[in-house]
Formats: sequence, structure tokens, C-alpha cells
Amino acid sequence: MKIAVAGKGGVGKTLIAGTLARMFAKDGFNVLAIDNDSAMNLSYTLGIDTDIKEKIVPISEMKKMIEERTNVSGAGLGVYNINPEVSDIPDRFKVSGPDGLQLLVLGSIEEPATGCLCPENALIRTLLYNLFVKRNEVIVVDFEAGLEHLGRGTAKGIDIMLVITEPSQKSLDLCSKIINLSKKLGVINIFLIANKIIDDSQIDAIHKRISEWEVPLYHTVPFDSDVGKADLNGISPIDFNSNSEAMNSLKNLYIKLKKLKEELFDL
Ligand SMILES: Nc1ncnc2c1ncn2[C@@H]1O[C@H](COP(=O)(O)OP(=O)(O)OP(=O)(O)O)[C@@H](O)[C@H]1O
Ligand SMILES: [Mg+2]
Repeated sequence: MKIAVAGKGGVGKTLIAGTLARMFAKDGFNVLAIDNDSAMNLSYTLGIDTDIKEKIVPISEMKKMIEERTNVSGAGLGVYNINPEVSDIPDRFKVSGPDGLQLLVLGSIEEPATGCLCPENALIRTLLYNLFVKRNEVIVVDFEAGLEHLGRGTAKGIDIMLVITEPSQKSLDLCSKIINLSKKLGVINIFLIANKIIDDSQIDAIHKRISEWEVPLYHTVPFDSDVGKADLNGISPIDFNSNSEAMNSLKNLYIKLKKLKEELFDL
């Protein structure tokens, strides 16, 4: 099952992607977590060892490899292969984390969202397609906030798109855009998740705002000070307190997704 996590900056994408990846792995699934963010925060949330973490080089920064794969011999040439060979890359560059999970850090491309066809972008897009369509693991992708890479090819294999919102209109505005784009690209299972919820009035306000949407509010995760404490201590939230309010809520989300996985693939 391929799960993508998207939403506005700071809403909790990395917390949710990383914690779900840990829960699938703990339960015995082969998990490959993908960090598509420039800040590389996912390794913290997953609880990757510091010495492993420090050595990670995002794929997007492997200039030489990108040049080789896309056959770019010099800047400004403007001719390169937009469909490079990438199938060996995940296994070559993934690192191991707790509970047997694996992490691949793609990094992001520092280009405006103009559909730039630079070699880095071509390689990352081809790689995402390869990960979504060709791999057998449970894949959880922590997308960068802007969703630059979500195109017809990359969205193809996404089984579940989790769109994360905070209780704010701005965040819901972007969710509405992400949902429309995901629908246009053919993603079937799109679920809205509200994070950092403090009280029921916020849930009521969200319900009001999304009343016309076709996508339901699938799950809510409470605001939880233990998540911030874990951050401050550089510890994965699930290792810091696996019974905190947010972790217990994410366990319930995990159970729902696992059930959905059985419905989609195993029955
Ligand atoms: N349920 C929660 N309760 C308390 N704090 C939270 C919760 N979820 C996320 N946070 C905090 O909010 C901040 C942003 O979370 P996170 O990094 O997961 O978001 P993000 O969407 O991945 O952000 P970015 O767009 O910067 O990658 C972090 O400091 C995190 O500790
Ligand atoms: Mg993040």
C-alpha cells in the first residue's frame, strides 16, 4: 500500500507520516518511508540513529549520480534523459531504522513550481513513480508542502492520500486545492485529517467549512504537548511516549488504515 501525506507547512505531515510508518513496521510490515522534504525531518520522527542520520545525503543532492543517470555532461546543454534508470536507487541509498523500517531521503528541488524539467526534478519524479508503482513495501511519503512533484506520473500509484489540516482556514484552503489536484490526477482514496485539535468547537468549524466537500473528515488528532517535548529532546514522539494522546489517536488511525489495506489488497 502506498500512502502519501500532504498539507500546508507545519500542520503535522511529518509527525503523521513518520508515526504511521513506525506503526506499520512494528506490526511486521516491510516499510519504506520516503522523505520528500528539504528539511529532512522525517528521520527524527522515525527515530533513526544519529550516526546514520548524519551520513544521509538526499538523492536530490547527488549531483554526479543525477548527471550520470540523466546523461547531462554540462550545464546549459538542455538535452537529457527525462526517463532515467532509477530502479536500483531505493535499495542502494535507503538506511535502516527502528522496527526494521527503511528510510529513503529524496530531498526536494529548489525550483519554483513551474513544472521545471531540470534533471534533478526528472530523476525525483521518475523515482517517485518507481516507488509507487514498482515496489512491494508499505510506502509512506512525507511530501513537501508545495506538492511540486505531484503530477500524472507520480500520483499514479498512490493508494491513499492523507491530507492534513490544522484548525485554521488557511490550512483548509490549501487542503481544498490538494484534494482537487489529487482527484484530477486520479487518486481514489483521499482522506482529510485534522491535527492539533484542542476542543470540539474546532471540529465543528472544520465540519462547517467542508460540508460541501466530497472528502470526509476521516480522523482527528489532538494537540499533545508530549509531541513538542519529544521534538525538543530530539526523540521520536513514539519513543518519547507511545501512550500520549496524539500517539493513541494515531494508533486508531493506523488501525483504520490497516483495515482499509485488507479491504483493498488482501480480501
Ligand atoms: N498533535 C500535535 N500536538 C502538538 N504539536 C504538534 C502536533 N502535531 C505536530 N506538532 C508540532 O508542530 C510542528 C510541525 O509538525 P510537523 O513537522 O510534523 O509538520 P509538517 O507539516 O511536517 O511541517 P513542515 O511543512 O515544516 O515539514 C512540530 O513542532 C511538531 O512538534
Ligand atoms: Mg515535515
